[in-house]
This record gives sequence, structure tokens and C-alpha cells, in this order.
Amino acid sequence: MSGEQPKVLLVVGGGIAAYKSCELVRLIRKGGGDVTCVVTDGGQQFVTPMALAALSENPVHTTLWDLKNEAEMGHIQLSREADLVVVCPATADMMAKMAAGIADDLATTLILATDKPVMAVPAMNVRMWEHDATQRNVTWLKQAGVHVLDPDEGPMACGEFGYGRLPEPEVIWREIAGHLDIEVEELPPAAIGAPASAQVGEDEVVEDVVAEDDGVEEDDFVEAIEPEEEVEPKTGGFAGMLSSLISRTTPKRTADEIEAEYLEEPEEAENEVSETAEDDASKSETEGSNEETSADELDVDPDAVPDLGGPLLATKGGASSAPPTDPEAINHLVRTGAGDAAPEPLEGGEELPVAPAELESSDEDVLGGENFAVKKGHRPLEGRHVLITAGPTWESIDPVRYIANRSSGKQGFAIAAAAAALGAKVTLVAGPVALKTPVGVDRINVESAEDMSKAVKGALPADAAVMVAAVADWRPKEYRGEKMKKRGSAPPALALEENPDILTNVAVGDNRPELVIGFAAETEKVLDHAKTKRKRKAADWIIANDVSGDVMGGDTNRVHIVTEAGVESLEEMPKLEVAMALAERIAQSLSKVAADG
Ligand SMILES: Cc1cc2nc3c(=O)[nH]c(=O)nc-3n(C[C@H](O)[C@H](O)[C@H](O)COP(=O)(O)O)c2cc1C
Repeated sequence: MSGEQPKVLLVVGGGIAAYKSCELVRLIRKGGGDVTCVVTDGGQQFVTPMALAALSENPVHTTLWDLKNEAEMGHIQLSREADLVVVCPATADMMAKMAAGIADDLATTLILATDKPVMAVPAMNVRMWEHDATQRNVTWLKQAGVHVLDPDEGPMACGEFGYGRLPEPEVIWREIAGHLDIEVEELPPAAIGAPASAQVGEDEVVEDVVAEDDGVEEDDFVEAIEPEEEVEPKTGGFAGMLSSLISRTTPKRTADEIEAEYLEEPEEAENEVSETAEDDASKSETEGSNEETSADELDVDPDAVPDLGGPLLATKGGASSAPPTDPEAINHLVRTGAGDAAPEPLEGGEELPVAPAELESSDEDVLGGENFAVKKGHRPLEGRHVLITAGPTWESIDPVRYIANRSSGKQGFAIAAAAAALGAKVTLVAGPVALKTPVGVDRINVESAEDMSKAVKGALPADAAVMVAAVADWRPKEYRGEKMKKRGSAPPALALEENPDILTNVAVGDNRPELVIGFAAETEKVLDHAKTKRKRKAADWIIANDVSGDVMGGDTNRVHIVTEAGVESLEEMPKLEVAMALAERIAQSLSKVAADG
């Protein structure tokens, strides 16, 4: 360690918790250390260099382009003079730059140039913290030897709850002291190690810590470092100085209020589910008119961390986020065993999904009780095995919620019935739909895309595979075994991951059927997309249909058969006729392959 006083270079990043760096400076100095601060541009939005200079009694550095210092290579010197570099708060942005070796300002340049240990104290919105990119960077930094402290869990200024809060300055100071071999008096574990959730409302504990302060009035100080607390602005002393650095223009919500909302949510017994659903339904009827008022009435913390992450973007290929929920897309009627009903709401919904078994018992028959009028003895698919998927998939979020789509399964069931009528052995892998199994068809019920994928694999080999099911592209990354509860005011982040591509897997698999057919439900540029899809998915045919109208639940369909040879467009016709037309073409194609073969 250099000199008598251990030296800390404190890099203050642009996070809402930057104001706590003032308290950290005070604690380091009180513990016998010397602090020099570097503040990023972002950091200066939250705390002024003047305050840090006054507290540290050292010049504060803000820019790489300081000619006087750079004549002496100031940024290198700064990075070498310290015994420890502490980044606090370490923003998501700062850690990303550190992990990538970016050096585009004074802070990042000296972190890259230093030969001293580096400690990073992350603080950010819970979604930013949980984002794959941040977690990847943290893992990388830890592997590279950076001491990354775990953030605390608790209510956030933005109204969310979770990991991402800056640990209390006292806790950070103890970590720093450990690095610098400075002995610090033991404190009761509750004072330093308690999760933030426990700290909220435990003012006595915080006050005990601060009571050691000399020269700062304890109540004032607590008030200054806790932005969530509702306080009358004070003008004098240290607190006055700090509160003047953090401008507040509107009333804010206190941590206690956030916590109370979280803790007060009634625990519903599972058997109360449907009752709550009714409550929610009637609430949603009236909610529209109340919404504005309640939003206006909400206390808003001007210092609150904005929801910078937005909804977590889902992973399809390389992307990592999901589109926001479109209310139009979920407010439609869905077919259940008991008739049409409102779909399961994505958030706060309480209805239990209807089990596939219940749906199966429904009477709806795609053939309407009739049979296909096939000429006696016309069995061109005799001896052939045709594998068909149909319906939607359900991707469970928790025991009561799932992601679904509007597929009725009618077209796939009709094709299964038509193939059976032409003599084929038919295996129908069906997602959750309220349809009767056609005569002569072996049906395997599945719920999720993963189940469907396994069932399809298990049903091979086949001569033809007709993949009609509307398989969800994504599923929730994490299935929550317990029903998710409302926490704070923000909806939960729903991270998604990619489902297996059943069509491609069949088309490129070892057991590839002679004829692999996919469906492309498109709302625009139907043929262009279908042609591309045929190649991308290695399918022989793509049956393209325009679903911008009422096709998903309706009884008619207009399809285009896209093959290597070109496009055959069929007239709009009932799904049953489409089914028979396709079954006949499948039979022709298989017999042609056999003849050629
Ligand atoms: C009001 C507000 C609060 C913010 N709070 C945080 C935060 O707590 N953590 C974080 O990582 N980023 C936060 N940001 C975003 C950062 O300020 C932004 O990523 C900035 O580029 C960080 O710069 P720096 O890393 O160079 O300091 C916040 C932004 C605003 C406008």
C-alpha cells in the first residue's frame, strides 16, 4: 500500500444511487482513507463534483480532455496512485464498457489502465440487473478479477422489487476496508447484512449506524441518503447540502409505501382462483374510468429509476426481448369445452387453463357429423403413414397462466380426417383444442411446443408430415412453480426463449418423411414469405394462407401451395374442401415419388 493513508479512487457512475457515494466518501475518510473521485457525465446528473470535492477534500476529475493533467498523463497517474479503484455505483453501462475494454471517457480509460485491484458496486433497475447482457458482463468481470459486490434485494425507487439496490454505504465501506487491511469495528449483522427489504422500516438500525457520525446530525443524514422516505425538505447542515444536489419537483412514493403494497397483497388460496377471476373481470369493466384518476393520484418519485429495460425482449435467434403485450391480441374469445370464453389474462389473470382432456371431451366435429364423400375404393393413401400436427400450443408461465395463440386446429383436423378417408394411417399430434378426433385417426394430445416436438419425433417414421399446428415461437424462459404475485406497481418481466422448430427438425432429421409440408400463416406478403420459408425450413411444400381475416377460427380458407415447381393457388373454400384437395395432392405426390423411385 502506498504512503500512510490508503488511497481509494472512487469512480461515480450515472445511477440513481450516485448520491450514496457522498456517504461512502465520508465513511472512507472517517475510517482513515484518502479518496479521490472521478465522476462520469452520467454521474454528474445525480451528484455534483463540488459536493464530492467538499467531502473528499481532493480535486474531482470529470474529463479525459484536461490538458494540464494530460501533459503529465494524468489518467495513467490517477489509475496508478490509488491502492484500490472502487466503481460505485457501477452502472450497467459502465460494467458493459469494462467487460468490453472500452475506454471512451476518463472513468473507463483509467479503469482499463489501472494496475490496482478494482471493485465494482452495481446498482440498477432489477430488469437491467437480471438482463442476460448484464449478467454476462458481471460474470466476465468476476473472472477477470474484478471484485463485483452483489446488489441488495428490495423495493426500488421505480416501484419494482428485486435485486439491484446499492448495498448500504456502510457495507461497501467494510468491503473496501477489507481490501485495504483496515480494521473496522464489528456491527450487529442486522445493521450491515440485512437485505434491503428488511432494512425498510427499520430506521432504528440505520440510525444506530449513523449515530457514530461526528458532526452530522443523524436524522438529517438518514433523510438525505434515503430518497424513498417522505420528508419535508430541510435547508441547513449536511442534509441541506445533499438535498440541494438532488432536485425534487414532485411528490414521491416512499419505500414504506412500496413495501406495504408488496406485503399487503392478500395471499389467495388456490381454490379461490375462480372467485378472484370474477373480481378481476368486474374490476376491469370499471377500471377504464378509474385509470386516469389513480395514475394522477399516484405519488411519483422524481428520482425514481425509470423503467429503462422495458419489457425484456425475447430470444428468437439472437434477439433477447419480447414484443410488448398487445391488448388487442389477448382480448378475444377462446374456445373452451364450455363454449367461448374470455382468454386467460396475461397479468393478474386467475382462471385455470382448461385441461386438454376436458377439451377433448367437447363434441365439436370438424366434419359436422358428415363424412367425406369419397368414391368407393378410392384409397390412394392406403399403406401410407401421414403424420399431422394441429392446433395451438400453450406455453406455461406459472400454474395458472400461459401463452397461447388463436389457432382453432380445424384445418389440421380436417386434413387428418381427409387423409384417413383416403386410406392413410394417420397420427394427429394435437395441441389444446376443443375438437372431436376424426374417425380412423390416432390422436396424441400435447400442450407445449416441447411436448409436441417430442410426440412428433416419437411418431416417426411417416411417409408424409403435415405440420399445421401453430407452434409458439417462444416460451417463458422460466416456469414459476408458484403463481406469480403482483409486486409493487410494475408488471413482471417475462423473459422468453426459443421453442424447437418442429418443421425444420422433421425436414432435416434422420427419419425425414418423403414429403414434408409446412403451413405459413401470414398477414402480409403471403407468397413471398411462404417461398422464403419453404427454403429456410427445408420443407417440400409450404401451404400459405392469409390470416389477416377470420381464418384462424373460421370455416373457410384460401391457400396457396408453394412447391419447388411453383405456386398453385386454390379458390377460397371450406376448410374441409381444402383438406381433401391437399390430401389428394399428397397422395399424388407420394405415388409419383414411388413411381419415380
Ligand atoms: C433518472 C435516471 C436514473 C438512472 N439510474 C440508473 C441506475 O441506477 N443504474 C444504471 O445502470 N443506469 C441508470 N441510468 C442510466 C445511466 O444513467 C446511463 O446508462 C448512462 O449512460 C450511464 O453512464 P455512465 O455509466 O457513464 O455513468 C439512469 C438514467 C436516468 C435518466
